[in-house]
Amino acid sequence: MRFDVSKYVAAAAVLTVMLNAATVEAQGDATAGRQKVLQFHCETCHGLDGIAKLPGAPNLAGQSPDYLVQALQEFQSGARQNGIMSLVASKLSDADINDLAAYYASIKITVESPK
Ligand code: HEC
Repeated sequence: MRFDVSKYVAAAAVLTVMLNAATVEAQGDATAGRQKVLQFHCETCHGLDGIAKLPGAPNLAGQSPDYLVQALQEFQSGARQNGIMSLVASKLSDADINDLAAYYASIKITVESPK
């Protein structure tokens, strides 16, 4: 029997991509993120459950962690500006941003489209 190594190489490449994707998502610590939500009072506006408590604040529950990290980094750099969020983000470290994003992203949501 001939041993076709190319199949295994392809499978290994797919697995590597999947593992890398998993690592990106696992960058932050959701448990630490929950503590940091309370520490920085994000829940006042975004809720501890990620459902906004103010009409002008967005829901964060179940949002993609990459999107959340990017939004917070943009508030920090000034690429995105908002009086409240620019101030809030200026106090966050990279680890805080990853943990906060991991927490809000880990909240399970269900949706129901209108009939
Ligand atoms: C006083 C209210 C308030 C607090 C406290 C607050 N936010 Fe916000 N946040 C807002 C508002 C309002 C916006 C919408 C800003 C805009 O229009 O760009 C926002 C936007 C965001 C966004 C972008 C969401 C999107 O859909 O683009 C993220 C992420 C976010 N906040 C995370 C946090 C985190 C994490 C904390 C705590 C460290 C926090 N916020 C604290 C009011 C608040």
